[in-house]
Amino acid sequence: MATLTFLGHSCWTISDGKHTILIDPFLTGNDLAAAKPESFKKLDAIIVTHGHGDHIGDTAAIAKATGALIVSNFEIANFFGAQGLTAHPLHIGGGRQFDFGHVKLTIAHHGSSGPNGEYLGSPAGVVLNLGGKKIYHAGDTGLFLDMKLIGEMYGPLDAALLPIGDNFTMGIDDAVKAVEFLRPKVAVPMHYKTFPPIDVDPSQFVAKVNASGGKAVLVDPGKSIEV
Ligand code: NI
Ligand code: MN
Repeated sequence: MATLTFLGHSCWTISDGKHTILIDPFLTGNDLAAAKPESFKKLDAIIVTHGHGDHIGDTAAIAKATGALIVSNFEIANFFGAQGLTAHPLHIGGGRQFDFGHVKLTIAHHGSSGPNGEYLGSPAGVVLNLGGKKIYHAGDTGLFLDMKLIGEMYGPLDAALLPIGDNFTMGIDDAVKAVEFLRPKVAVPMHYKTFPPIDVDPSQFVAKVNASGGKAVLVDPGKSIEV
């Protein structure tokens, strides 16, 4: 069993009871965040999907405080390595078995400039296998047909965490199509409401997925689901 806790925007912790992974920790500066950077005591890894500030967020401070390994694309790993932090570089299509679980980076159609406009490589999604549970976090992306391949090769996915806020990523209807491609056991919306341009109603996504034969649930910031 894995516990997925939503901390707002695209930030999640995923734990199998033995290991805990944090993804895209944008907490400082997010009024809707459900955790503070100093609240993490023990973390195995922090996965960063791309360089934008609302995904890199508090990664450096949390990695420094917990000693967690940063896992990201090569350019972001170098960015954090230059700050004296420990980071493991992966890149699109590449995966690795770590002691806590398996991480594979997938494509994402988006940008990945850093906090000061640095080039930080290609944005990514991630397929995480933790304790035998397979979770896809799409990062920031538009809809792409290869989501079918992700569902086919790594499925059945136990959960798919999908951006729905439109403007910068898939909107609701594209994310509903993504669920059709991925066929996860459950889909959960993220990347909505944080900023005015992405203020969409996530219950519409949930209703549309469930009406189309898929399964989606809404997880409010601070709440968890078990898969
Ligand atoms: Ni982004
Ligand atoms: Mn974003």
